[in-house]
Amino acid sequence: MRNELLGWYDRNKRDLPWRHTNDSYAIWISEIMLQQTRVAVVIERYSAFLERFPTVNALAEADEQDVLALWSGLGYYRRARMLHRAAQTVVAQEAGMMPATADELRKLPGIGSYTAAAVASIAHGEHVAVVDGNVERVLSRIRGWESHDTVGEAAVRRKVEEFAAGLVAPRRPGDFNQAIMELGATVCTPRNPQCLVCPWAAECRTLGEHKTPKRAPMTSREIACALIVRESDAGTEVLLEQRAATNTVMPGMWELPTLEPTGATALEEVVTVRHAIMQVNYTVRVHLLPPSDLSLIANTGAAQRWIRLPEASTMALTGLARKVLRRAGLLQSSARNKPTAFAPPAIKELV
Ligand code: ADE
Repeated sequence: MRNELLGWYDRNKRDLPWRHTNDSYAIWISEIMLQQTRVAVVIERYSAFLERFPTVNALAEADEQDVLALWSGLGYYRRARMLHRAAQTVVAQEAGMMPATADELRKLPGIGSYTAAAVASIAHGEHVAVVDGNVERVLSRIRGWESHDTVGEAAVRRKVEEFAAGLVAPRRPGDFNQAIMELGATVCTPRNPQCLVCPWAAECRTLGEHKTPKRAPMTSREIACALIVRESDAGTEVLLEQRAATNTVMPGMWELPTLEPTGATALEEVVTVRHAIMQVNYTVRVHLLPPSDLSLIANTGAAQRWIRLPEASTMALTGLARKVLRRAGLLQSSARNKPTAFAPPAIKELV
């Protein structure tokens, strides 16, 4: 089974930027980004992050707001805060030397069994198995293990961990772990798996989809926010609001001011944006407000600031704020982390 999988991986693996390094810091960054974020989005952000913070020392010394700004769009910002904290721990306790074993890595903030095993096996060739959602799906299908509720799911998980630990290839553990994850991401997908091209089809007891507990369905919500732009001596500015530091979701990040729901309906809508955060699909109605009338903004007690446009692109914006500003032509897609002076095309119509 190992040879079949590794042969398939050698022929089919995607050319991903973090597969060109054995620097454990860089691999750690990629693995944290890849948790809960799609590969295509990670590819976009990984190189910019490493250019800005090329070493664990550089990351440890950075301002948290700068780290969050570079994380913008990847979501689940707690990961970025923990990453920053872990870098500071490595610098303070290990003189900037990244721990090399899974056991040592697991002691750092935000590094669980999955990340520790991934980094130790990929960067250092440690013989440990990685089990993430992809691996769990692949191996439980191979064995024909199904579950109908969360108790059954936990039991399957334990069996999968044991199975994976015995299966991991001793000579190429990093490639083996990446190969199963790759198989799960590209062939043994949750829906419509491509069994005809699977290197493990001959040993698979499922061949097709298998039963798992039902997930909570996504819910839908509508919100309204305000786009308020002004021209000043400093150039074009947009009014942004900082989320409270005590907020459990995205604390300290910058976003567009929220509108009182009753006030929003009478206003002209500039754009409608769809945005998913965790289990909620948001429909966001963005209304253009004149800078002279801020009375419709919901009083959240949040700090508000006029931000010059080039500066906005370097701030810790929420993914939604970044999306809206781009849609309105106020931020350049390519200028994500590189402030440049530019004349946004849509601004004349907006002001
Ligand atoms: N998912 C998370 N990390 C991965 C990796 N290194 N290779 C393939 N898929 C992954």
